[in-house]
Amino acid sequence: MGLALRIPANDNAKKTFHRRGGDKNQRMASHLITGVAGFIGSSIARELVHRGERVRGIDNFETGKQENIASIRDRIEFVEADIRDHDGLKDAFAGIDYVFHQAALPSVPLSVGDPVRAHNININGTLNVLLAARDAKVKRVVYAASSSAYGETVTLPKREDMMPNPVSPYAVQKLTGELYMQCFSRVYGLETVSLRYFNVFGPHQDPGSPYSGVIAKFITQMLEGDSPTIFGDGETSRDFTYIDNAVQANLLAASAPAEAVSGQVFNIGVARQISLNQTFQALREITGFRGAAKYAPQRVGDVKHSLANIARAQKAFNYSPDVDFEEGLRRTVAWYKLRPHPTPAASTAI
Ligand SMILES: NC(=O)c1ccc[n+]([C@@H]2O[C@H](COP(=O)([O-])OP(=O)(O)OC[C@H]3O[C@@H](n4cnc5c(N)ncnc54)[C@H](O)[C@@H]3O)[C@@H](O)[C@H]2O)c1
Repeated sequence: MGLALRIPANDNAKKTFHRRGGDKNQRMASHLITGVAGFIGSSIARELVHRGERVRGIDNFETGKQENIASIRDRIEFVEADIRDHDGLKDAFAGIDYVFHQAALPSVPLSVGDPVRAHNININGTLNVLLAARDAKVKRVVYAASSSAYGETVTLPKREDMMPNPVSPYAVQKLTGELYMQCFSRVYGLETVSLRYFNVFGPHQDPGSPYSGVIAKFITQMLEGDSPTIFGDGETSRDFTYIDNAVQANLLAASAPAEAVSGQVFNIGVARQISLNQTFQALREITGFRGAAKYAPQRVGDVKHSLANIARAQKAFNYSPDVDFEEGLRRTVAWYKLRPHPTPAASTAI
């Protein structure tokens, strides 16, 4: 039986077709993106399509959106699948060379509220992805790890050789995924690379949930003339990383020599510490918003400071963040201005 591929014909309608056995090899995609309808997954997909590469994506629309892949929907294979469904992944991995594993429940507050559900997606789902990749003889899996694995560190910047100290279920889960990546590299010879993203932001990030990234939410609120809410005193800091830098890191990590990257963990940030107060001020300049921010108590599970040392990724695969914070903000504001945006929920994830 052929692989059932569901390709959305438009945002409201889906077309389902079955690949015939005869043309199987011709139609094989060489890159598989899990979580392709999400913010980072769809951004990787657009860049690969732009480069003329073959792309297959899977998603269950847990947090992802049809609109994120609308511009490339006729140039990728899309499989509606859940990474918790081990048996359902087999066909989607057939013929794949490189996997970019982005699918997750990517939220500290959601993992605090329902750690079991988050565990099932983030850990069990990741194990299923690795099993499917191993069985399909995939060349390499590049994994979306998280800087949250570090937790509160006494020393900044955070380096990969520091002891992880996760403070939320989400952080534990993302760290466990890294350990599984390393394990599959050692035990089964599957090449794996873990990229610890530091607060990625940019076009296509969803501002519409209470757990959305802080920049997406600030921008959409300020463009609506509403005051954003800052949790804590605003001196909480992050190494905000524009999406193009994260996409670049994924593609470089996929093509770097195995001896330089396989089984390893790399920070992906910009190596610059920006506070939430500074972010708000920068966005006031760009959006023209003249109001003040609202302040609310710091949330459980959020770390106070985050800053990446990116030397390891620079050395191993020439990672070099091209887009700085201010330029990234300008591009992101420009994108949100052009898109119709729903009114965001009140609270803000960082
Ligand atoms: N955005 C950041 O700043 C950041 C920072 C560190 C790590 N990460 C990691 O990067 C990855 C992508 O994050 P994002 O910001 O693009 O989030 P996102 O929510 O936009 O994307 C996640 C995607 O995974 C899909 N998904 C969730 N559960 C699934 C399941 N069971 N089966 C199939 N698909 C499923 C969602 O529908 C969504 O499309 C995640 O693994 C996240 O943990 C993100």
